[in-house]
Amino acid sequence: MSEAVVLLNGELLPLSEARIPVLDRGFIFGDGIYEVIPLYNGKPFRGAQHLARLARSLAAIGIPNPYTESEWLAQIDRVVRANGLADQMVYMQVTRGVARRAHAFPKDVQPTVLIMTNPLVLPPAQAREQGVACVTMEDRRWLNCQIKSVSLLGNVLAAQYAAEHGVTEAIQFRDGYLTEASSSNVWVVRNGRVAAPPKDNLILEGIRYGLMEELCAAMEIPLEARRLSREEVFGADEVLISSATKELLPVVTIDGRTVGDGKPGPVFARLYAGYQAAKAAL
Ligand SMILES: Cc1ncc(COP(=O)(O)O)c(C=O)c1O
Repeated sequence: MSEAVVLLNGELLPLSEARIPVLDRGFIFGDGIYEVIPLYNGKPFRGAQHLARLARSLAAIGIPNPYTESEWLAQIDRVVRANGLADQMVYMQVTRGVARRAHAFPKDVQPTVLIMTNPLVLPPAQAREQGVACVTMEDRRWLNCQIKSVSLLGNVLAAQYAAEHGVTEAIQFRDGYLTEASSSNVWVVRNGRVAAPPKDNLILEGIRYGLMEELCAAMEIPLEARRLSREEVFGADEVLISSATKELLPVVTIDGRTVGDGKPGPVFARLYAGYQAAKAAL
């Protein structure tokens, strides 16, 4: 396979030749944000929503957006074309830039912009057909989880906790209430009704959150955003997780306890079919 090509500050380069200075604030402070957009047949899925979230993350930490939406799409297209047109996962990162190390924002600094792409590897069919296992843990992250920050240590530790338990995700609770998993949003189904934690500072609003709202509305599945206790999660008929790379997956055990009847449920089946139809309509 030929080497991946990345776009660093507007320049296409082989991955092995892309370099950033050690004083980049992304490296020194984790001072930056990122986005991940899935592309099917080279076309961004929910691209406008991802770029809007990128703009919100940048605004939240006071980094000027280096590109307009159409410029971002053009830059993404350059990288996608350079790497071939199969299903891809585009990763974009913007940091505050390179400056002498001092915590407060430096003046007159150019953001560092990286765009790279990897093959989009979706979960195996078995994960959807049999469901996946998760564990729970206390959410120990900061209180600005709505920002898609590259400072991901809390999420990294949660993902590692899941990996050490041999499961797909770590579902987090803050003060007894559901927040989200290490890199997915969580959905709880009871009596045919879907519920999810509110879109506030305690979770990253996944782009699939908006998609789920649309799918539930179109299918007349009631959906409410509200605080969800541990008891509600463990007492659910179905629990689902969503992300760009997982799409939508059914969770059948949590901390070794069976969810519902231990099989992927009917609400999952409907929403997953709706998800695939939305992709097909791209
Ligand atoms: C912490 C967190 N929550 C939720 C999500 C789901 O977001 P999306 O649907 O945009 O992939 C992600 C995605 O990586 C995430 O990292």
